Amino acid sequence: MRHERQVELLRRLQGVDAPRPGPLAPASMHNPATAYTSPERFAEEVRVLFRGQPVLVALSCELREPGSFATMTVGDVPLAMVRQADGSVKGFVNICRHRGTTLLTAPCGEGLRSIRCPYHAWTYGLAGELRAFPGAEEGFDDVDKAGHGLIEVPVAEAHGLVFAVADPGALAFVAADALHGAEVEIADFDMGAYSHEESREREWAMNWKLALDTFTEPYHIPWLHKDSIGPYFLFDRWIHDAFGPVQRFIGCRKSVLEEVEKPSEDDWELLPHATLQYLLAPNAVLVHQIDHLELWRFTPLAPDRTLIRTSIYSPPGTERHARYWTKNLDVLLGVTDTEDFPMQEAVQRNLASGAMPELVYGKMEPALVGYHTAINGRLATAAGPSSAPVTR
Ligand code: FES
Ligand SMILES: [Fe+2]
Repeated sequence: MRHERQVELLRRLQGVDAPRPGPLAPASMHNPATAYTSPERFAEEVRVLFRGQPVLVALSCELREPGSFATMTVGDVPLAMVRQADGSVKGFVNICRHRGTTLLTAPCGEGLRSIRCPYHAWTYGLAGELRAFPGAEEGFDDVDKAGHGLIEVPVAEAHGLVFAVADPGALAFVAADALHGAEVEIADFDMGAYSHEESREREWAMNWKLALDTFTEPYHIPWLHKDSIGPYFLFDRWIHDAFGPVQRFIGCRKSVLEEVEKPSEDDWELLPHATLQYLLAPNAVLVHQIDHLELWRFTPLAPDRTLIRTSIYSPPGTERHARYWTKNLDVLLGVTDTEDFPMQEAVQRNLASGAMPELVYGKMEPALVGYHTAINGRLATAAGPSSAPVTR
């Protein structure tokens, strides 16, 4: 992030240019509990939000060389991104055209020369063409090989990020269609030069939005995290901006207060004190955290089940050993997996009881209000004017 931008954001945090805390959301918001529990709403979210628009599926560094790949299930559609010989990325539905099993099962990998199905060894080229299958002459001589290549989906790559639409019929798009202007900041981080260090996956008994909700406010930090990160972070000052539906939320360590006491703004730096979170609803949160990047990817499995993949990436030029990043991930997940997500599982159980009709998102939770307003609006638009509103 450019120095002028860091100074501008620090001035806002300090309250030089605007009252603090803030900016607040224009109004608090009520969201029905059924937004988290209804099977009908869940099905509509998968159709409209996950499958109906470009979403972030991978960082470019997860598939750097030709023959490298990254997989992710978007909504209910398994996808594979594959780096081509010419350096471009193609996206495929990660399902074998024979009898439908999953082709690539690792989250990412490299060195592919072809894609061979583990079930009956149908083999595809990296561009998706069906090259060979056992018994082709005897038992499948009436099956058109050319018509059984992998099903392609539209992909766009920019700023070190790979986006796809989980719909083979979707039109081509550009990354800006998913970033809505946030690219003016994201481009500065040179994310394409980072290196993937480690990813871990875990399933949680909660709605996918509760995973996203976790990243939206520091309001909970002194309470839920009082014995872990609480003492180190500000909870009453933050920086929030919306780029269309994309929310960028910056939480700061208390050390930032000394930074803005420095007499010359030329010496001010935000990044050593800040956690920058880009909420790319519905399926990803991209985090710049002092000395690394994190990507949190969410796959909705059911209204009350979500698979979370957490990945960590090191910046160019760092010589740190893999153990450092493993420890980093241990510490990170030590907080979310013992403090944040168990709390969200309790929320899910309680909402499922039907005993509480709605949740309240306060003005002090602007990223929460912002992203829920955006997705509720999108669902309402997709449902059309005659349908019942999804929020009030
Ligand atoms: S399902 Fe893939 S080869 Fe049979
Ligand atoms: Fe938290």
